[in-house]
Amino acid sequence: MDKTLLGGLSPRTFLRDYWQKKPLLIRGAIPGFNGLLERDALLALARDESVESRFVAQDGQRWQLERGPLPASLLKRPKSKAWTVLIQGLNMQLPQADALMRRFSFIPYARLDDVMVSYATDGGGVGPHFDSYDVFLLQGTGTRRWRISTQKDLSLVEGAPLRILRNFVPEQEWLLEPGDMLYLPPHCAHDGIAEGECTTYSIGFRTPSVQELGTAFVDYLRDNLCLEGMYADPDLALQADPAQLPAAMIERVEQMLTAIRWSRSDVEQFLGGYLTEPKPHIFFDPPDEPVSVKRFAQQAKRSGVRLDARTLLLRSGRYFWINGEDVDLPSDAASSLRTLASERTLTAVPDDEELLELLYGWYCDGFLHAGAKGD
Ligand code: SIN
Ligand code: CO
Repeated sequence: MDKTLLGGLSPRTFLRDYWQKKPLLIRGAIPGFNGLLERDALLALARDESVESRFVAQDGQRWQLERGPLPASLLKRPKSKAWTVLIQGLNMQLPQADALMRRFSFIPYARLDDVMVSYATDGGGVGPHFDSYDVFLLQGTGTRRWRISTQKDLSLVEGAPLRILRNFVPEQEWLLEPGDMLYLPPHCAHDGIAEGECTTYSIGFRTPSVQELGTAFVDYLRDNLCLEGMYADPDLALQADPAQLPAAMIERVEQMLTAIRWSRSDVEQFLGGYLTEPKPHIFFDPPDEPVSVKRFAQQAKRSGVRLDARTLLLRSGRYFWINGEDVDLPSDAASSLRTLASERTLTAVPDDEELLELLYGWYCDGFLHAGAKGD
């Protein structure tokens, strides 16, 4: 990892002193960085219906929010007005953005979310707010003034189309130039205002809520539940009102439900599937005319394979999950799959029929591509 990325701090020190704890400004985090995308290419993505985008403008106290795909008319708004366009999931559109996100792999992939890019005209921004996740805000082209606050009052303006803090009291501010970066822990209030046209790249993380995890886990349990026995009441007592739910019945059902149990291993299986589940708007592009398994095997052995940028592949011990499914691991394949999961490429695939068949299945699903280096 580049020493500059965390301003000379080792990842260990960063995690100990800053991660989820306090903000960190890093001047020259990526020296020479000047964005990954020209303005027109960025705005063109906002018109694409497969890309998640937003348009935000402010008119006095009134905020306007439009969700993509955005009409061309909106994107032609004069530069003299303050507006901004945000593109989510840039790492799935642009290999350089995926490579940028992987620079942060000192944090587990299980915590990574995506790279968002924003384009703003002079004065543009999304207003003072807080996010519930950690973020690295990397300045692309131009400059942006960030003001931040560790304030406890996180009440929001009522009725606004986006989350705007009611009483933002900035404590610190910096003007970020290309390649500078600001790390913010969750719930740190911030407001970034473009000074001249600018682009900002946000490397964002996943922080699921207990509610979200809990409901997904209950779904997992339901799908995997296997309980024995039937309700029985050989001791049924005579009761005066037949409409009365018998207290003994409630007690007995409560007792029966204690049979619903789970182990650490259930949590592990649930989490692997849950964290690799593609987001609802993600669709893979299987090859129109897949090559034969024989041809694929030849290519893979010669020039390797690479995961599609949308693919999520995680592992725990000897288990692997890809895009929400657990992997039926062929014998002897674990070490190759471990490399594929962490490097996201395999430069040369060993001559192992079972492994090649597994990879071929993923190739046919659009989860991976032949050629470690891309086209
Ligand atoms: C932006 O890039 O304009 C907004 C990023 C953020 O505040 O999280
Ligand atoms: Co934010």
